[in-house]
Amino acid sequence: MDERRRLDYLGAMGVDVWVPRLVAAGRIESSDEIAVVEPSRILPPARVSDPADLRPVSPSAQPIPRTPPAHAEAHEVAPNPVVPGPVASGPVGPALPEALSPPDPALMDWDALAAAVSGCRACGLCETRTNTVFGVGDRNADLLIIGEAPGAEEDRAGEPFVGRAGQLLNRMLAAIGLAREQVYIANVLKCRPPGNRDPHPEEARQCEAYLLRQIELLRPRAILCVGRVAAQNILQTDAPLGSLRGRWLTFRTGAIPLRVTYHPAYLLRSPEQKAKAWEDLVEVVRRLRGEGCAVIGKGNDKDQSD
Ligand code: URA
Repeated sequence: MDERRRLDYLGAMGVDVWVPRLVAAGRIESSDEIAVVEPSRILPPARVSDPADLRPVSPSAQPIPRTPPAHAEAHEVAPNPVVPGPVASGPVGPALPEALSPPDPALMDWDALAAAVSGCRACGLCETRTNTVFGVGDRNADLLIIGEAPGAEEDRAGEPFVGRAGQLLNRMLAAIGLAREQVYIANVLKCRPPGNRDPHPEEARQCEAYLLRQIELLRPRAILCVGRVAAQNILQTDAPLGSLRGRWLTFRTGAIPLRVTYHPAYLLRSPEQKAKAWEDLVEVVRRLRGEGCAVIGKGNDKDQSD
């Protein structure tokens, strides 16, 4: 992208022009340090049984920890337990016998996972959705962006971040030299909560296996959580967004650097915060460069065997 277009994008974001010059001139140096937030600050005891989940380990050494699947607790949830994961059709209903249990998303490839999401009836949102919203972008992307849940336009289109917030997200990405097609974009929830309300914890729990599998298949170099709801669900914390942004965290096993920033919908309402969002994006660029991969395009040293 030429300098003029970059400045146009930044102007649209309301960001001061000194920043893109630093990036364009390659004067932002890579960051070698990733500050791992202390477990006690990001994982309150009420929601985390083992703070060791945050300790860095190699990706091959430990799978992404999952919230126990609903069927493991079905005996404790006597009234109307829901079926976890994908079910081909039919209403939300009681857990199936073992032999009829739906396939485990953790074992699926991209296409199977997408098909499972499109047929999912694990929570009540399947009754009100128009389309499921699986995710979009490069399945070998270095950067994964995680939002909250589809809104009305995403529900109609079956694609995340296509409304006004999505357009701002596109401009934010362009400002750091990335096209929407070069990253992967997904949400915590694959179906729209009616009236754009916050996801219920049970909905997030039912949907979690899909996003975790997307992360496993993608194995991104960095994750950017946009907004409080995405950050709190991914980090399994109740901490406010303000305490989560502004530093590097790590995703669960510690293998993937994770950054939190404001949701573009919030930035549309509070444009004075765009400068801080820009700082977050610059840190993501620095991190990607620090890992030795190009910010724009492929050809990095990531194992793309999946
Ligand atoms: N907001 C989100 O968090 N995700 C979308 O896909 C759209 C709006």
